[in-house]
Amino acid sequence: MTVQEQDRATLRIGDHEWVLPVVAGTEGERALDIRTLRRETGLITFDPGFANSGSCESTITYIDGEHGILRYRGYDVEELAEQCEFVEVAYLLIHGSLPNHAQRAEFSRLLNLHSLVHEDMIHFFSHYPDRAHPMAILSAMVVSLSSFYPELGENRREDIDMTVTRVLSKLRTIAAFSYKKSLGEPIVYPRHDLKYCDNFLNMMFSSPVVKDPINPVLADALNKLLILHVDHEQNCSSTVVRAVGSAEANLYASISAGICALSGLLHGGANQHVIEMLIDIRANGGRVDSAIERAKDHKDSYRLMGFGHRVYKAYDPRARVAKQICKDVMAATGQLDPLLDIAQELEFKALADPYFQERNLYPNVDFYTGLTYRQMGIPTDMLTVMFAIGRLPGWVAQWLEMRGDGEPRIVRPRQIYTGPGKCSVIPIDQRP
Ligand code: CMC
Repeated sequence: MTVQEQDRATLRIGDHEWVLPVVAGTEGERALDIRTLRRETGLITFDPGFANSGSCESTITYIDGEHGILRYRGYDVEELAEQCEFVEVAYLLIHGSLPNHAQRAEFSRLLNLHSLVHEDMIHFFSHYPDRAHPMAILSAMVVSLSSFYPELGENRREDIDMTVTRVLSKLRTIAAFSYKKSLGEPIVYPRHDLKYCDNFLNMMFSSPVVKDPINPVLADALNKLLILHVDHEQNCSSTVVRAVGSAEANLYASISAGICALSGLLHGGANQHVIEMLIDIRANGGRVDSAIERAKDHKDSYRLMGFGHRVYKAYDPRARVAKQICKDVMAATGQLDPLLDIAQELEFKALADPYFQERNLYPNVDFYTGLTYRQMGIPTDMLTVMFAIGRLPGWVAQWLEMRGDGEPRIVRPRQIYTGPGKCSVIPIDQRP
């Protein structure tokens, strides 16, 4: 542990007092260190949803939710999106520093070398139903990788490095293959002469009868959007990846579990639901006011998708960049999406509404990203897959950090039991 003890807190219950350390991180975040609490006091903490619990210390990502700041390894996300390519940021997350030319070239060489998936796995795609959600295919295919590339059983560093490269490269290939399968088109193999994002767009959109050149505006936008998704400290899916990995499950299994968590409506699945919400609003004559009224009504489960965040109580910095990317892409391609106007009106009216102001509800990363993916021709049910491709380096970095931690412990929270007291079994013929 490298957190520093900064202060001490006293816990008093009745006549008893206990002293607990107050620790701090490099940006001044403070936490009550309760690791000895149960042993010394018999108490546990109660924090459903873990909104007030730090599950680990981490050197990867820093968020200041009050001021809308997001940094990966100390770099502002806005600067990384402006100046770097996704592959460089993936390297930063996984290796701890931005690559130089030689490191970047070697990383790209390895990603290229491992971009194919085993030919036998390609048969799997034929057996999913036509309407299978691509997130279900993605998680199943990723966990299947462990049976095709089993050397990670040894847990040696070089095997882990190989697994990391494989999963980073193959996830993108699997995502594109699953899209081709959904169209009933032949798969397009990765090409060694294309960069990571160009390669993905080529696998998605070229075919034996279509050979459109890759639009550099779209490839650049894809790079930026993936960077926005790269990591977000202990979010739901990263916590799942760490938890599964803490049981010493392999990297593929841990990432597959993270993909399942990400698919949820309240997490990465929100980007798909934002587009569906905007399409619904448009179909209802573009009336954003009724969407806002429904979202405010607690008797209605409807929420404004792409709004609100557990950590941000200010504008999500990723949403600001994503909005600009969306406008730039539409200006460059000349293809205006009427959903953008609806999204902007919705944002404007929600931010002016006391309900959203009092609760600090702002657009989050998912609000504008889907609109840009639509410009690329990516269908709505693939939007969360795009989030997964972007989030992958973060999951890998979180998993590696957890495994490298000097004191890794299996994730195993406690609970407050509120079920019935001791019961005795009544024979079945005497039960009411
Ligand atoms: N629309 C309407 N009301 C909302 C919304 C929303 N999108 N989000 C939160 N609220 C209200 C909520 O009803 C509650 O009101 P009250 O205090 O009167 O009961 C208050 O704001 C606090 O909400 P919460 O659900 O307790 O907050 P949380 O931190 O548990 O949840 C959230 C965060 C992101 C799940 C939630 O804001 C939400 O459901 N947003 C919509 C889904 C979404 O966009 N998810 C993507 C999150 S960002 C990307 C990612 O991490 O994957």
